[in-house]
Amino acid sequence: MQPDAAILRDGRVAADSFWSKAQHEAERDAIYRRCWLYMVQAEDMPEPGDYVVRDVEICGASVLIVRGKDDVLRAFHNVCRHRGMPVADGPCGKAEAFRCPYHSWIFHLDGSLKAIPNQRRFPVLDAEDLGLVPIATDVFAGFVFINLDPQPALSLQAFLGGIAPLLEATTLAPFTHRDSLSYDVGANWKAGLDPQYEGYHVGTVHALTIREISVTPANPFSEFRKMAFAGPHAAGWSQGNPSWRPRADRIVQSFAVQTMGALAGRVAGEGYPSAETPASLAIFPNLMIHPGAGGWFTQQHWPLTAQSHRWTAHYYYHAPVTASERFAIAQATAFGRDSGMEDFIVMARQQKGLASGATDSFYYGEAEMLPRHRAAVIRSVLHGSQADMRSAA
Ligand code: FES
Ligand SMILES: [Fe+2]
Repeated sequence: MQPDAAILRDGRVAADSFWSKAQHEAERDAIYRRCWLYMVQAEDMPEPGDYVVRDVEICGASVLIVRGKDDVLRAFHNVCRHRGMPVADGPCGKAEAFRCPYHSWIFHLDGSLKAIPNQRRFPVLDAEDLGLVPIATDVFAGFVFINLDPQPALSLQAFLGGIAPLLEATTLAPFTHRDSLSYDVGANWKAGLDPQYEGYHVGTVHALTIREISVTPANPFSEFRKMAFAGPHAAGWSQGNPSWRPRADRIVQSFAVQTMGALAGRVAGEGYPSAETPASLAIFPNLMIHPGAGGWFTQQHWPLTAQSHRWTAHYYYHAPVTASERFAIAQATAFGRDSGMEDFIVMARQQKGLASGATDSFYYGEAEMLPRHRAAVIRSVLHGSQADMRSAA
């Protein structure tokens, strides 16, 4: 897959790629129905019968992922083979089997059909053929992915390609305390991803939150010190502000940051992001992984309509023991939420500007090379010589 050369060179992108219905449907068919999509951490479903339900709204799909009695993780369309009812309710649970809430057809954890009530009234059905419809699934370094293509052209490993070592270095497992947030945003999913891909906006948008952590006199535009690209994926390494400390008059933040440091010391720091961890690890199409306050932070931007998306975020911390640690974690998640809100407010307004039709294109500068690369990848996938993600790696 060669990213579109003109976009890579000039950074000029068609404005309607952020609002047109045709683009939305093309992305659905060529990206979301073809790519491996991150769903959940394997350790979130440690025992047989543990399951999660994840909706991929742009494809109209409800995905049921379950750990079988043989310890194997499998994914299925969450659709009863009788008359189409979802057999499991999300977002997660534990089951011996799945009983459809409509007429009580029952499915084993491996998806096969276990029982049809009053089965003599279905004399021509072959229960062998009526298991839940499987979805391709695979796990890499604890990250569970699915692929809605009935026959994925690439294995998960091949799809990840050269970005795999960075994903493997993301050690979420020791961080057993999770905070999760979700928010529907009135902007295209790519508009949602963009500010996670660059620091150029930080000095303007994040004056109340992360600006002082990122912007320095030597780096006033919060540029990455290094960027890397592998197939459709990318990573950017931050310079950050090494001398940043919370201001003394910000008592709550000061207390929280100190407590988080003490927590890291108590658990010996195992698994924390290091100086070699990218500030933004972008797994195409929509997974972002970042170092977080006290651990890690993952987020995804799921397309809903051409002009809206759902943000889902997970904050990973070591398990708190004291009330102070609980408080520090709550403060850290609230701080993350606040900086996210600063982005959401801007992107919803940006969406209106782009969709007004006033301009036919917009521009990513050289410091915005991660979103520029992503735009070039999408352009290539949708319009290039290769018709879809089958040749993405
Ligand atoms: S739709 Fe599932 S049992 Fe009827
Ligand atoms: Fe931002």
